[in-house]
Amino acid sequence: MILSIESSCDDSSIAITEIESRKLIYHKKISQELEHSRYGGVVPELASRLHAQALPAILSECEPWFPFLKAVAVTNEPGLGVTLIEGVTMAKALSIALSIPILPINHLKGHIYSLFIEKESLLPITVLLVSGGHTQLIEVKSFQEMQTVATTMDDSYGESFDKVAKMMSLGYPGGPLIEKLAQSGDANRFAFTVPLWQSPLIAFSYSGLKNQVRLAVEAHDASSYPDIAAAFQKTATDHLIQKLKKYFKSHPPIRFAIVGGASANLYLREQVSGLLHGYKADFLLSELQYCSDNAAMIGRAALEAYQNGEMRGYREIPINPRCKL
Ligand code: KG4
Ligand code: ZN
Repeated sequence: MILSIESSCDDSSIAITEIESRKLIYHKKISQELEHSRYGGVVPELASRLHAQALPAILSECEPWFPFLKAVAVTNEPGLGVTLIEGVTMAKALSIALSIPILPINHLKGHIYSLFIEKESLLPITVLLVSGGHTQLIEVKSFQEMQTVATTMDDSYGESFDKVAKMMSLGYPGGPLIEKLAQSGDANRFAFTVPLWQSPLIAFSYSGLKNQVRLAVEAHDASSYPDIAAAFQKTATDHLIQKLKKYFKSHPPIRFAIVGGASANLYLREQVSGLLHGYKADFLLSELQYCSDNAAMIGRAALEAYQNGEMRGYREIPINPRCKL
């Protein structure tokens, strides 16, 4: 079995995955959303201290499986430096105490393998990763061969929901709050410009849209927030769809997935599903419980790393907060 640890942002999570069967034996996650909500975003120092409390509490439930562990997997990149260190330090302690190697796992690969928890992987696949920290279009050929073909020039899709929610004093995380508010709004009352609409670039940008929304929020009272939320969600998503359409012209999709915390957004799922329909492409999604950060996806990615012999000693685990794929 492999024990996996995730602490790259504001979720403390540990999982145990059986190597042969890919079965998820244990999985627990303690989210810090409530603690960060009053600040309208994640406060890194607070997140780090909360991981230091939550991770040992979860780990104590895993002790019965300690004798069966072949490796400990941990997210070591990318993420917040002060929170990654909590998981990595725990992995090092386990490695020394149990004499087992460490599998350092890239968080983005974890999100991609959230598609295949308790399943065989289906590759190659084109993946749109939409989370709080990333908006990336990735061609996945294998666990080792992944190529980012488009990325954001500034904010990410999920982050823009968080910032709009903060402008409206709704709390954190903003994604589910804005999605819910948008349900009762009229998306056509505000006409926001789709980012990079005229640009030939296949890239993403959310800072301009964020500023358009800020002006609308400042000019109206709270009774208009549902309409602003609906128009914002539509424009933010139209931007993804427009760039996907452009990319698909030269790279028609055969198998496509959306992963990451923001892949839970139903409006986004519907729009992508409609777009893929024309291509008769397979559309994969992670189970809702595995869209946001969790250790089960790190454990699933770790099965691939284990097969590839990516085991390392406790002195060889770098922490790379800004690393890409
Ligand atoms: O993958 P994740 O848990 O953490 C990162 O790796 O960043 O993603 C969290 C992000 C947050 O920005 C959150 O607002 C966004 O995903 N999110 C959503 C929705 N649910 C979560 N964004 C839009 N619509 C949602 N329903
Ligand atoms: Zn994530």
